[in-house]
Amino acid sequence: MSFEDLHKANEQQLTTVVDQLTKEFEVTPEKLDELVAYFIEQMEKGLAPQENEDKSTNRGLPMIPSYVTGTPNGTEKGTLLAADLGGTNFRTCSVTLNGDHTFSMEQMKSKIPDELLEPTGVTSEMLFSYLARRTQLFMKKYYEADMQAGKEFKLGFTFSYPVDQTSLNSGTLIRWTKGFSIQDTVGADIVELFQGEIDKLGMKNVRIVALTNDTVGTFLSHCYCSDNTDSMTTGEISEPVIGCIFGTGTNGCYKEEISKITKIPQATRDKWADEGKTHMVINTEWGSFDNDLKHLPTTKYDVDIDQKFSSNPGFHLFEKRVSGMYMGEVLRNVLVDLHARGLIFNQYRTAAQLPHRLQTPFELDSEVLSHIEIDDSTGLRETELSLLQSLRLPTSPTERREIQRLVRAISRRSAYLSSVPLAAIIIKTGTLEMRYHGEVEIGCDGSVVEYYPGFRSMIRHALALGPLGAEGERKTHIKIAKDGSGVGSALCALVA
Ligand code: GLC
Repeated sequence: MSFEDLHKANEQQLTTVVDQLTKEFEVTPEKLDELVAYFIEQMEKGLAPQENEDKSTNRGLPMIPSYVTGTPNGTEKGTLLAADLGGTNFRTCSVTLNGDHTFSMEQMKSKIPDELLEPTGVTSEMLFSYLARRTQLFMKKYYEADMQAGKEFKLGFTFSYPVDQTSLNSGTLIRWTKGFSIQDTVGADIVELFQGEIDKLGMKNVRIVALTNDTVGTFLSHCYCSDNTDSMTTGEISEPVIGCIFGTGTNGCYKEEISKITKIPQATRDKWADEGKTHMVINTEWGSFDNDLKHLPTTKYDVDIDQKFSSNPGFHLFEKRVSGMYMGEVLRNVLVDLHARGLIFNQYRTAAQLPHRLQTPFELDSEVLSHIEIDDSTGLRETELSLLQSLRLPTSPTERREIQRLVRAISRRSAYLSSVPLAAIIIKTGTLEMRYHGEVEIGCDGSVVEYYPGFRSMIRHALALGPLGAEGERKTHIKIAKDGSGVGSALCALVA
């Protein structure tokens, strides 16, 4: 056998294994049907009184009432503060709602310092005093005179983690997701913690009046900005139904009939009915869909990521197959495994010799995947540069071709799975059948849905392949709700 033949045989072996892997990442139409049916079942279970009252160990779909009972129509006016702690950044903003579906915003953004994301040794006080100090900086820059004059500021706080909401402005952390692991925050009231640190800095006239999840913020902001709800003026009959995030994490909320949220005591529901309230926004926390892995597709890489590398093993298993924080990590795990099996990067003899960044969990950003996804340059030069730059990893043309196939399989699985909660909510709420010619709008935010090339098309494709079918997909409009969390929490603060 010549050297050429030998190399070809090796390449062929890699291709064969990648063929098998892409098959493992496939989500078939049958699987979509099965997952949507199970999602609906889990939503119903989550709305009913819980068997396991301990929320921190309950593995089902949380389905958290948000205490938001109405939706904006775009005529709301006012200037409010908003703070937003989500994935990797913290923002303080002031939002001016102009009352005509538009808004303007001042904002200050900062990256969460790495030391606050350490697995141990971090306290709530350290985190929330950092947030309060950033807020103080913002207030000094934009509202120094007003602060000195003692003007009252209402602040809406978007806190994008599972919170057991007890009212519009209180709630306790059920567990951290997306990398934080500050033990003493779990079970504590988030508003009290943040307000406490704001007060310590002498900013007593900044009052946190609303606590919202980013999905709820996105939903409200989409309702505010959307000009489609009045069919008499626009000719559109399109109802905002879902607010969702596909970014570092993934989650969604939707409008549910209060009478169906049976885990809320009957007396409270009756009181709300007397006040004319019929619906409430539910934060599903769908990142935790199927934590028992009864139906979700699972590869050995998913198991490793959850058990060995994630900060919340056993929870948010849907998110770990879907969101931006994990797409790169899935690819990294596959590549390290292919190397261990002698199929790729053979210039490195042992795992310890691989470029350090390829050995480091969560170092491969989903942004790198987004470049590889659409690379059509000769010899996949862009992919070559992208991998060199991000991981210091040199690759051969064959390796790059196979890596691109893997990237596309991973992102397709993510997008196809993303369609599951959307289809399930549309079916469960029956919104497509509610009005003659009725259509639905989904307000989305997050880096993946906004920037990952083709992600929205792939979701739509999966919606058509799944139980909604082509007709349902045609009536479903996935819209980007820019700055959802800022505007949304301002809207919440306005009505608080
Ligand atoms: C995680 C959080 C959830 C949030 C989502 C998107 O899944 O648990 O609360 O909405 O990320 O940021």
